[in-house]
Amino acid sequence: MKIKVEYLEFMWPMRHFLITCGDISGESNIIAVSFCMPVSKEPPLIVCAIGRGTYSYKLIKSTKEFIVNVPSEDLKAEIYYCGFHSGHHVDKFKETGLTPQPARQLRVPIIDECVAHMECKLKQEVEVGDKNLFIGEVVEAYADEDIVKGKKKIEYAKGDFPRKIYAVRFKTL
Ligand SMILES: Cc1cc2nc3c(=O)[nH]c(=O)nc-3n(C[C@H](O)[C@H](O)[C@H](O)COP(=O)(O)O)c2cc1C
Repeated sequence: MKIKVEYLEFMWPMRHFLITCGDISGESNIIAVSFCMPVSKEPPLIVCAIGRGTYSYKLIKSTKEFIVNVPSEDLKAEIYYCGFHSGHHVDKFKETGLTPQPARQLRVPIIDECVAHMECKLKQEVEVGDKNLFIGEVVEAYADEDIVKGKKKIEYAKGDFPRKIYAVRFKTL
């Protein structure tokens, strides 16, 4: 017998990313995002789905730039902080201790503690459901040399986020 499930349950686990937005010398912010994936190789495009009520949505709409930073599993506490607090109310760089560093092409900061960074210029925006899809062209991508060369292995952040949320929302798990 097959039983009805929450649709996201079997899409999991997904990777967690920390997307930065804004301007390093002005307002900048970090949002935890799991709805994020590559959608084209040539040109290189990444799509991420961002809630319209978020502070990051406002910043990306305004600067038309964002950076996908790849966190390792040991940044889980920071990921959850950035995923449960809004830049409308807190400075997430300050509260998490994550370090903003200048990016190579954009004014958005990268997160130094992350292992890889994809700098994206907004190409297209699509309104879908409760989010907007931001499709960004990757103008520069770089990562820690030791990881690229296989000298260091890391576990990328991914996890049980929806399972936890849905357990509360639907009391099914
Ligand atoms: C692991 C994790 C993944 C998340 N994935 C997304 C996502 O893909 N899209 C989204 O809009 N919000 C996602 N969220 C929720 C946002 O991170 C959250 O609403 C955040 O407070 C928004 O921050 P901001 O208002 O500073 O932009 C996720 C949260 C967590 C903890």
